[in-house]
Amino acid sequence: MTYKSGRHFLQIPGPTNVPDRVLRAIDNATMDHRGPEFGRMSLEILDGLKGVFQTKQPVVIYPASGTGAWEAALVNTLSPGDRVLMFETGHFASLWNKMATKLGVSVDLVPTDWRRGVDPAAVEAKLKEDKQHSIKAVCVVHNETSTGATSRIGAIRKAIDAAGHPALYMVDTISSLASIDYRHDEWGVDVTVAGSQKGLMLPPGLSFNALSEKARKASAAAKLPRSYWSWDEMLANNKTGYFPYTPATNLLYGLHESLQMLRDEGLPNVFARHARHAEATRRAVRGWGLEILCAVAEEYSNTLTTVVMPAGHDADRLRKMILEAYDMSLGTGLGRLAGKVFRIGHLGDFNDLTLAGTLAGVEMGLELAGVPHKKGGVLAAFEHLTESARAPSRKVA
Ligand SMILES: Cc1ncc(COP(=O)(O)O)c(C=O)c1O
Repeated sequence: MTYKSGRHFLQIPGPTNVPDRVLRAIDNATMDHRGPEFGRMSLEILDGLKGVFQTKQPVVIYPASGTGAWEAALVNTLSPGDRVLMFETGHFASLWNKMATKLGVSVDLVPTDWRRGVDPAAVEAKLKEDKQHSIKAVCVVHNETSTGATSRIGAIRKAIDAAGHPALYMVDTISSLASIDYRHDEWGVDVTVAGSQKGLMLPPGLSFNALSEKARKASAAAKLPRSYWSWDEMLANNKTGYFPYTPATNLLYGLHESLQMLRDEGLPNVFARHARHAEATRRAVRGWGLEILCAVAEEYSNTLTTVVMPAGHDADRLRKMILEAYDMSLGTGLGRLAGKVFRIGHLGDFNDLTLAGTLAGVEMGLELAGVPHKKGGVLAAFEHLTESARAPSRKVA
């Protein structure tokens, strides 16, 4: 039996479910990327993106996965041998560190237990130690997709300022943009890295750098080799709505549509929706008597929840059984967390009933796989959803 009726639940923390409106937009004839219609559309996209990053400064779009935008952030701003400060908050922060090292950048890596975000006090202390100002950049993953911990980007900005340090501030928002409040300008971020396949509700394949004036100045002096990733040519071409090489035309149709959807819902409503679903998910996990990996309540992620398996039970066996029985994909444990945790993605194109189905699939899966748990996690989540839907502060359209 190869056909599975009903729809697949893609509840990994990205790529996320792509809404029909976006799929229909992508499914248009590819147009001339040097023609007038394309130029008009790109100018609207480049302008619309500023709203999502909460910036008035330029945003660069690459036909690449998020990893490409990580590389672009580093090679446009740094020189061989430059020191950067990074925090090993999880698997993705470790990969960014590996990339920087391969590019010839010298990384001061602050370890963590993979259960929390970056400690602003540690940022301040590290920068105060650097009296010569040899650290050129502080790099932080906003939402660590492997652990479900969200770093406090505004507080880290204050820590950098309190240390009186001129380092650039680079932030990876690949699993937070358009889902968790993020303010490129207000938080004084110099390069924001993002991707298409999570909060923006698109397939994988586009990634972004939002820039600051300071980052653009740094790029004029930076010596790491770059060509494809170079901001200069991109920004010069983008002025009239064009690109220095063939852009991902059909993904841009999708982006044009998803930006409209985000505007229609309103960013504050998008953030509140993610916060509410995340809280309901955590109530379910506690109801099951299982542990949430993130140890710091104010750093709980609103886009995913990482659940610790009881000792002696393999998370990937549970995930496999859930996939086979209920046609739902959950996130695997990454790096040192392999087999020990599973991740529930609750981001992107998502509503109360999608969450209800997701949590029902997890609770039934725990039973099926013989994983020790208490019943009633799903009910605890439902209670939160109904109570918060009644709350006067919630806008019901
Ligand atoms: C926080 C974070 N950073 C970086 C990446 C790497 O992005 P990509 O796989 O699109 O290259 C991911 C991927 O999930 C991520 O979640």
